[in-house]
Amino acid sequence: GIEVVAVVEQPKNLDMGDIAVPVFSVMKAIRKPLPEVVAFVKTLLLESFDVISEINPTGGFLNIRVKKTEICANILKEAVNKLGDFGNNDFGLDKNVVIDYSSPNIAKSFSIGHLRSTMIGNSLKLIYRKCGYNVFGINYLGDWGTQFGKMIIAYKKWGNLAEIKADPINKLTELYVRFHDEAKEDPSLEDEAREAFRKLETGDQEYYELWQWIREESLKESQQIYDLLHVSFDSYNGEAYYNDKMDPVVDELMEKGLLIDDQGAKIVRIGDDVPPALIKRSDGGSLYITRDLAALFYRKREYKFDKILYVVGNEQKLHFTQLKKVIEKMGYDFANDIEHVNFGLYLTGGKKISTRQGASHKLYDVLMKAIGLAYEQINAKNPDLENKEEIAKNVGIAAIVF
Ligand code: ARG
Repeated sequence: GIEVVAVVEQPKNLDMGDIAVPVFSVMKAIRKPLPEVVAFVKTLLLESFDVISEINPTGGFLNIRVKKTEICANILKEAVNKLGDFGNNDFGLDKNVVIDYSSPNIAKSFSIGHLRSTMIGNSLKLIYRKCGYNVFGINYLGDWGTQFGKMIIAYKKWGNLAEIKADPINKLTELYVRFHDEAKEDPSLEDEAREAFRKLETGDQEYYELWQWIREESLKESQQIYDLLHVSFDSYNGEAYYNDKMDPVVDELMEKGLLIDDQGAKIVRIGDDVPPALIKRSDGGSLYITRDLAALFYRKREYKFDKILYVVGNEQKLHFTQLKKVIEKMGYDFANDIEHVNFGLYLTGGKKISTRQGASHKLYDVLMKAIGLAYEQINAKNPDLENKEEIAKNVGIAAIVF
């Protein structure tokens, strides 16, 4: 009738057993001398668990040895019986989780830089599903922003439609790289790009159609990769989707007295230790965080999430801190349900991988290379294997994923 909490340890000497349980707390609780307690607990444990094979007391510890073969057999039997349902639980019953993952910036190739978010996000989705949560996986495509202004300008200046149609993403990526090279010499290109994006934002028909086409081509390429990785999403609503949904948030910030004028721009002050969040540029343009705020309110309404996870690299830590703080300042409790699941960067030669510098780190190429290497190994070691191609594909992709 006494409840005792004991921390289970690994025995100092593994010859003594598999698990060591200190009995001091039991001694305190029942106020009996050590030998009596040891004898009492030993009998109790042996009677209660039939997977315990022996118990060796040393000092204040009981070293327990378990029947590993029997335990393993039980687990395997259960796994075989339940198959895909093995390990299911209902921790998350009636709870909703939104996971924002992968979210590549389109109009350029899907780079290896987005592999981690894609795979960590997908794993979290599967784990939460297994725990009984309703999970909504969202690919928040980076399909809006000044990079599209740059694409449009580069396309108008140097693009060749026939060439691009034949190999859209590579040619568009080349244009993007060229823009950055030329802008180094001629900074006025940056202004042109900003102006082009502003026109796109305010609904210019020609630019809008160009944007739509680039988006579609990029999505096709991404889809190829998601198919190879067996990753899927419930929504592809990206940044562009929120272009016309930002005003209510900005208005609310204004009404709550949180929006401050700063040399023509609009900012929200967050505190002494975090820089202010820039909500509107002085030319009226919106920003990454403005769209994320609109998306967050939309998701709260649409999915009624109990938790929202952003699976994004560590370099965006400040952004997500600001996002959370702005929600907090607006007085919403769900600020506590926002979590940034962060991770480190892939580096090449100690540097961040960047499309702009023209370095090609296309995830597609990396996957194909891994499949090729797996195929070479099979050919060398087991040339008569059936389904060589299929096995090489599975092994190569699994290697990259893990
Ligand atoms: N597109 C961004 C990038 O590649 C990641 C977006 C993450 N999600 C978000 N809601 N901000 O850097």
